[in-house]
Amino acid sequence: MHKYQVTGVCLNPSIDRALTIDGFDYGGTNRVLGSVDCAGGKGFNVALAAKKLGLRAAATGFVFSGNGDIILHTLSEHGVSDQTLHFQGKVRVNLKVFDKATQVVTELNGKGQMMDADSFAQMSHKMDELAKISHFMVFGGSVAPGLPDDAYKLLIEIANAQGCKCVLDAEGALLKKGITAQPFMIKPNLFELETLVGTKLNTIGEIKTAAQNLINKGVEIVLVSLGQEGALIVNERKAKFAPGIKVDVKNTVGAGDSMVSGAIKGLIDSSELAETLKQAAGAATCSVMQEGTGLTDTSQLKSIYDKIKITDI
Ligand SMILES: Nc1ncnc2c1ncn2[C@@H]1O[C@H](COP(=O)(O)OP(=O)(O)OP(=O)(O)O)[C@@H](O)[C@H]1O
Ligand SMILES: [Mg+2]
Repeated sequence: MHKYQVTGVCLNPSIDRALTIDGFDYGGTNRVLGSVDCAGGKGFNVALAAKKLGLRAAATGFVFSGNGDIILHTLSEHGVSDQTLHFQGKVRVNLKVFDKATQVVTELNGKGQMMDADSFAQMSHKMDELAKISHFMVFGGSVAPGLPDDAYKLLIEIANAQGCKCVLDAEGALLKKGITAQPFMIKPNLFELETLVGTKLNTIGEIKTAAQNLINKGVEIVLVSLGQEGALIVNERKAKFAPGIKVDVKNTVGAGDSMVSGAIKGLIDSSELAETLKQAAGAATCSVMQEGTGLTDTSQLKSIYDKIKITDI
């Protein structure tokens, strides 16, 4: 059996509901012009984007029987292997209210269903099983309420013990504690990196130094995303920067998840750090040029690669 090249882990799934309103009236009655639901959750988005990039992808995490079928349907429709654990209850709904009049988006994110120690024990067991048959395990986003803030640390330790390469894309205590388990790669954005190191980072040089300090803690690759400013990548020997590309931006939701998938595709294709950064930035840029969450169409990738200019820093 072929191993999964990427398995995305989603411990706080969501249904993202995009509502359109013309002239949002705070405190009043608003008429919804359109409502579209789609499966959300970073771990799932990473698996879906990886599949779009041609990788064998699986997804695990929690799915709730009340309304979780949209997630299962999305995974199966896109050819991502469903390795999720099923529980009673409901997936939280994250409302993204788009006001046509002002072009402003207001987000109202649900908290997520409480999970207990037994559900985490089941997840840990599943992790041990999946890490044996996955090259990369990606831990993305928040975790369900009730889970400890060392949840990713504990799961990374299990996956590392099976020789699986772990990628951590989280913030706050989940990131800080997760790093102590020495994931192979992390992908903070600037805010997440600044929070982690506890100081503002004002120049590319300062960002690079902060990233290099994390390498000294046992992380092999630090990929820092800087929104429209681009991204930089650091390992023990090298540091590279890819400035952002000016494109017609349609939707930035899920850009970070597409970036993680692109980076893994780069790591699978080549041992060159520049190639990892090129494919990471390429997938992320491609995804912001598309309507909807994440990477839905890879046809523009080649022309984007031609525009990415990577420099040593
Ligand atoms: N406005 C933009 N224009 C061009 N590229 C962008 C833009 N926003 C994001 N990107 C691309 O997407 C990458 C990831 O974006 P960003 O740094 O916003 O990630 P993030 O904060 O982790 O996002 P997410 O909300 O998905 O977690 C950037 O490094 C860049 O390559
Ligand atoms: Mg992110």
